[in-house]
Amino acid sequence: MDVNIVEATDKLEKNGFLDLEIDPTLDLFEEINKLKKEKNAVILAHYYQEPDIQDIADYIGDSLGLAQNAAKTEADIIVFAGVHFMAETAKILNPGKKVLLPDLRAGCSLSDSCPPGLFKIFKDKYPDHLVISYINCSAGIKALSDIICTSSNAQAIVESLPVEQKIIFAPDRNLGSFINKQTGRNMLLWDGACMVHEIFSLEKIFKIKSRHPEAKFIAHPECEEAVLAVADFIGSTTQLLKFAKEDEAMVFIVGTEAGILHKMQANNLTKTFIAAPPNNACACNDCPHMKLNTLEKLYLCMKYELPEIIMDEVLRLAAKRPIDKMLKLSEELGL
Ligand code: 13P
Ligand code: SF4
Repeated sequence: MDVNIVEATDKLEKNGFLDLEIDPTLDLFEEINKLKKEKNAVILAHYYQEPDIQDIADYIGDSLGLAQNAAKTEADIIVFAGVHFMAETAKILNPGKKVLLPDLRAGCSLSDSCPPGLFKIFKDKYPDHLVISYINCSAGIKALSDIICTSSNAQAIVESLPVEQKIIFAPDRNLGSFINKQTGRNMLLWDGACMVHEIFSLEKIFKIKSRHPEAKFIAHPECEEAVLAVADFIGSTTQLLKFAKEDEAMVFIVGTEAGILHKMQANNLTKTFIAAPPNNACACNDCPHMKLNTLEKLYLCMKYELPEIIMDEVLRLAAKRPIDKMLKLSEELGL
């Protein structure tokens, strides 16, 4: 091993992330593409990643698309440009492959809002309930769940169950209450939420609406009920992109993480997209976890094949069962 690799490994083990200097003359796009070929690696990226990462990815998608792609990839290395629960899901589905995450600290506030120990105590109080968990949760929560869902398939999965089936829905109370409304069910909700989607300002959204009365407000179901109540369309990131492309409106106010605007704008060059503003002095609604990944870290992580997702095998197997159920149900439902 050369000294750089030893140094990088050492830093990673201590800090869990890469901060080595990169030669500023390097064309990182070229280098990453070279590494992809050399190592038979695939880059899977979420729509909330920075534009450069989305542009170099082999596949960009929502959580369902990413999980489906991770399940069928033939690459030897999966480089996951997203947050920890997404890379962990890829590892759960691919124990024999190396799964890398450019910055191991890229967590998720929603996932953190549901610690497995507390959730187990809650779940044990309702032994006759089935547990459906949103994919934005840790492997520990997945292992305590019966079926995993994403924002793309949550409604269809709930509707596929008999109406009399009692259900616990975790961890997102906003998505859960939205699905309760859509389906007329009364699922018990874990009280978790996403820091990015809870912060939109209704007042500022109305101000933008008054300046652009023709604009449509589109929102992710992780937003609060009051925000969803004024939305013209509600859907997962992929569903929002589809709506923005197919709808005749020319101006959209977008109630989700701002990274999605890159793809939305690229798909619709003549339309205008305005990021819904948050309820604070800050003008952006970036997810601080998603944005920990950078093109530089992506390059270093592919070069040194670190940081890698490592999992306990007993936990992996327990967490895989409800993910497999989701993938099978999604296939049956044509999603
Ligand atoms: P999607 O599955 O809709 O892309 O959602 C992922 C996410 O983390 C939303 O915050
Ligand atoms: Fe988690 Fe919210 Fe960031 Fe999505 S946007 S990764 S739910 S913190």
